[in-house]
Amino acid sequence: MKAKTKLAVFASGTGSNFVAIQAAIEQGELDAEVVLVVSDQANALVLDKAKAFGVETFVFDPKAFTNKAAFESKIVEALHIKAVEGIILAGYMRLIGPTLLHAFEGRIINIHPSLLPSFKGLDAIGQAFEAGVKITGVTIHYVDAGMDTGRIIAQACVAIDDADTRAMLQTNIQQVEHKLYPETIQTLITKGDFS
Ligand code: GRF
Repeated sequence: MKAKTKLAVFASGTGSNFVAIQAAIEQGELDAEVVLVVSDQANALVLDKAKAFGVETFVFDPKAFTNKAAFESKIVEALHIKAVEGIILAGYMRLIGPTLLHAFEGRIINIHPSLLPSFKGLDAIGQAFEAGVKITGVTIHYVDAGMDTGRIIAQACVAIDDADTRAMLQTNIQQVEHKLYPETIQTLITKGDFS
């Protein structure tokens, strides 16, 4: 039997996608192991969740480094020590630089809360809500040097009802994310994308 694919989750926020990925692993729906959670926010809630699941964390302060290449080199070192095969971005609020892109070419994916190429960048849920669109959704894509520009892997729609609040939309989007991300990661693992 092939060993479980070793993944790192990069996150700066609450970590609900990390938890959904762990839940899918525990339910036997995802042949993976999250071996490292990487965060640039020492107080991020995702770090508490990682500890609760017994997953090692790598926390760094970007301000302590001269530039992005310097901190990304440290991250790459930590990823290699843990033999990470694929990087899962889940609310990591930084553009990935050449150091990480070259070290993990084609093996970094991101989840974005809109139907790309609409509503790139920050607060995609708020952008869609303010625009008054009737359908938005979730996109999973490969990561390149741009902001939310990499090749699209999977998308799912979320309808916006006239009575919905922004908070309701966020809940609906997250529900879709928590299903689509583990499913898509499993599809990529089956295809051999991370190995
Ligand atoms: C998700 O909505 C994801 O689409 C975006 O950042 C958010 C992370 O949420 N990139 P969480 O920390 O997984 O709860």
